[in-house]
Amino acid sequence: MFTERRSIRRYKEMEIEKEKLDKVLEAARWAPSWANTQCCELVVIQEGTVKEQLSEILSKKNPASLAVKNAPVVITVCALVEKSGFYSGKAITKLGDWFMYDLGLVTQNMCMAAHSEGLGTVIVGAFDHDQARKILKVPDDREVVAIVPLGYPDHEPSPPKRKSMAELVRWNSY
Ligand SMILES: Cc1cc2nc3c(=O)[nH]c(=O)nc-3n(C[C@H](O)[C@H](O)[C@H](O)COP(=O)(O)O)c2cc1C
Repeated sequence: MFTERRSIRRYKEMEIEKEKLDKVLEAARWAPSWANTQCCELVVIQEGTVKEQLSEILSKKNPASLAVKNAPVVITVCALVEKSGFYSGKAITKLGDWFMYDLGLVTQNMCMAAHSEGLGTVIVGAFDHDQARKILKVPDDREVVAIVPLGYPDHEPSPPKRKSMAELVRWNSY
């Protein structure tokens, strides 16, 4: 299952069944988070004009621009900041705010749930995050972190190369 999921950047012109979309969103709801702080919020976009506006703020030559414009559903992953990894208003580890970590878990849960329903996704991080906040009318104390188009795959990309197990894993010490 994990080896078969690919980033999908072209989708069929097919709507997503409500039950399938609900399963994807439910997977997001059940992601683990720092002390169960659940700093993630999602904005689900089905309106063409909003998708188009978002597709225009991706980095130049971002290969996912058309995916954002044409996917039947686009999920934007937002964070409430200074919650995850914080205690009494202070970050308790040297790594600061853990919202990126928590949102990564939410996003991967959604991508895997989508995959198991026969749907494709691509995580999009390279875009103008302030513009995204404006387009989506997200309050100032939140960050828009990622855009995730969702739809039935219209291509089957071959897997990009991964590190070998030996490069990835060390045993007992570095
Ligand atoms: C945090 C993050 C940000 C990403 N941003 C983009 C992006 O802006 N545009 C894009 O086309 N793909 C983006 N990707 C998808 C990666 O390029 C892709 O996951 C990687 O090449 C591995 O391919 P695979 O997902 O098919 O295994 C992003 C992935 C992650 C995890």
